[in-house]
Amino acid sequence: MSSQIDHLLDETRRFPPSDDFAASAVAQPELYQRAGTDREAFWGEQSRDLLHWHKPFTRVLDWSTPPFAKWFDDGELNVAYNCLDRHVEAGNGDRVAILWEGEPGDSRRITYAELTDEVKRVANVLSGFGVGTGDRVAIYLPMIPEAVAAMLAVARLGAVHSVVFGGFSADSLRSRIDDAGAKVVITADGGYRKGRVSALKPAVDQALSDRGDGVQQTVEHVLVVKRGENEVDWTEGRDHWWHDAVPAASAEHEAQAFPAESPLFILYTSGTTGKPKGILHTSGGYLTQAAYTHKNVFDLKPETDVFWCTADIGWVTGHTYVTYGPLANGATQVLYEGTPDAPHPGRWWEIIEKYGVTIFYTAPTAIRSFMKIGRSVPRKFDLSSIRLLGSVGEPINPEAWMWYREVIGGGNAPIVDTWWQTETGAIMVSPLPGITATKPGSAQVPLPGITIDVVDESGEEVGNGNGGLLVITEPWPSMLRGIWGDPERYKETYWDKFEKQGYYFAGDGARLDEDGDLWLLGRVDDVMNVSGHRLSTAEIESSLVAHEATAEAAVVGAADETTGQAVVAFVIIKESYLSAHDAAGLATQLRQWVGEQIGAIARPRDVYIVGELPKTRSGKIMRRLLRDVAEGREVGDTTTLADTAVMSIISAQVK
Ligand code: WTA
Repeated sequence: MSSQIDHLLDETRRFPPSDDFAASAVAQPELYQRAGTDREAFWGEQSRDLLHWHKPFTRVLDWSTPPFAKWFDDGELNVAYNCLDRHVEAGNGDRVAILWEGEPGDSRRITYAELTDEVKRVANVLSGFGVGTGDRVAIYLPMIPEAVAAMLAVARLGAVHSVVFGGFSADSLRSRIDDAGAKVVITADGGYRKGRVSALKPAVDQALSDRGDGVQQTVEHVLVVKRGENEVDWTEGRDHWWHDAVPAASAEHEAQAFPAESPLFILYTSGTTGKPKGILHTSGGYLTQAAYTHKNVFDLKPETDVFWCTADIGWVTGHTYVTYGPLANGATQVLYEGTPDAPHPGRWWEIIEKYGVTIFYTAPTAIRSFMKIGRSVPRKFDLSSIRLLGSVGEPINPEAWMWYREVIGGGNAPIVDTWWQTETGAIMVSPLPGITATKPGSAQVPLPGITIDVVDESGEEVGNGNGGLLVITEPWPSMLRGIWGDPERYKETYWDKFEKQGYYFAGDGARLDEDGDLWLLGRVDDVMNVSGHRLSTAEIESSLVAHEATAEAAVVGAADETTGQAVVAFVIIKESYLSAHDAAGLATQLRQWVGEQIGAIARPRDVYIVGELPKTRSGKIMRRLLRDVAEGREVGDTTTLADTAVMSIISAQVK
């Protein structure tokens, strides 16, 4: 890591905004001043400006029982009304909300009026299923307009959605449905990925099947969108086709007002233990910061811009910058179903040309994989509509940043490198276009209204020129309100470490340069970041040891040129298994096993079968040493190992 940091800190290129951009930018420097003078009043102003409150709030923040914050809590609003009806009522019903592109090349344009109509019908269908305030609805869908409509319909009812990424396995889906106690699942027969239909309904059927473990089944209804046209099994009474139920439902539905702190969604994310955490977000504060950041960070001009965030709705980026931010702001956006390279490697650039995308938001891993293919592919398309680029999910290396700027941004579109997390709900750290002179590789500065610091283990500020741990020093509107069903774990995970100071611990290492700009250095815990997706070493280890062959397993995130980090597993096989089975092909079997248990994204890049694992005298696995092996480096200091010879054995076995 240290050579990487030195390299980063050699970065001296600066890209100040052009005068033209600065003059017409949405965010003006006064924003920092207003937020600096009175932070709470600032957020109150933002919320009133950006949202419609059915009942205005009189208090901005209640932080009387930290770490449980309440924002705008005596106000009432309806999140879906804010994303839909009010735009129609303001005369913008004909504005396109979604420019949808299916992977096979089919497409749909959906206006705000049409989307509002659809969401009202879906809300009526769901209330017919008995979904009411506070009930949980799981959503397991491909990137089709119905996914956005489903989220908004749930929100409209004051119910709580839990979107599960379509790439997750039946087991992962089941544990999320159970944890949240979902009443309804919204899914599809399948969706297009890499030129083929990838089925979804079978995973739902499997997740809802009787598992004989005594866990009470909570799901009463399954609403199924027909997309893949693949054959599906059907459970009469439980399953309903969307295309039957939704058009038949009434398009009359008045949005009711709900208290600002009503739960809006649960989104599961990997932590340092094997069990994913259900991150809970509520309504008023979340929507305020979603709209505020979407408008200011992306310089949104809703009348003329075409926004495209490539994230799947299964991740927080898809929640905040596909569904809630853009629609709250009345933006027009592209929604794309498939993979970047299907049916050809220029698919994304073709879409940008086709729809005249002006603001493009994606992840460094995608940028790096395009870099590898070469600039000749994007050069075949007209990308001149692009005027702003965004990056999210992991640190972007200066080389990828420069390539993004030159090849995709035509050498002049500002890049916003946005740092945030599922837990923060919305962007926290980012340059502001038109104001900040950008630096390749640095996320730079907290947004107006956000307070960030870098501290040492004891919570002391490290100061400019030094590295440490990233903390958030004051509550923010879109902060998580807890972990679903586990307030203790919420405190323990994020607040105990700096309890004395009352800081939120993000789990990221960071460095402040001499100008006070932030450089993110990756996770400091056992969370890996693979292609911008969070994976826990513990979760994959427990999946590996659940296989009959495995005695012990250790997983590390090893540096990978394209995906940032890659999952590398070291596995000890049981003697009893080896005496009865052929070990050939076992590594491949274990890779597949993890894919089936968790999802393809968790499948290890490499599985090494080894005789022993490096442990300290107290039995703790020394992942640092395994990472050295996985990254092909000389193995570091082994003096604290119980058996110092073990690393040379492992190195030999890996070769
Ligand atoms: C990492 C995704 C560096 C970080 C929105 C964080 C980043 C984790 C950046 C959250 C960035 C996200 N620069 N690192 N611009 N953005 N990260 O919850 O380690 O999927 O803690 O949220 O991604 O991942 P999550």
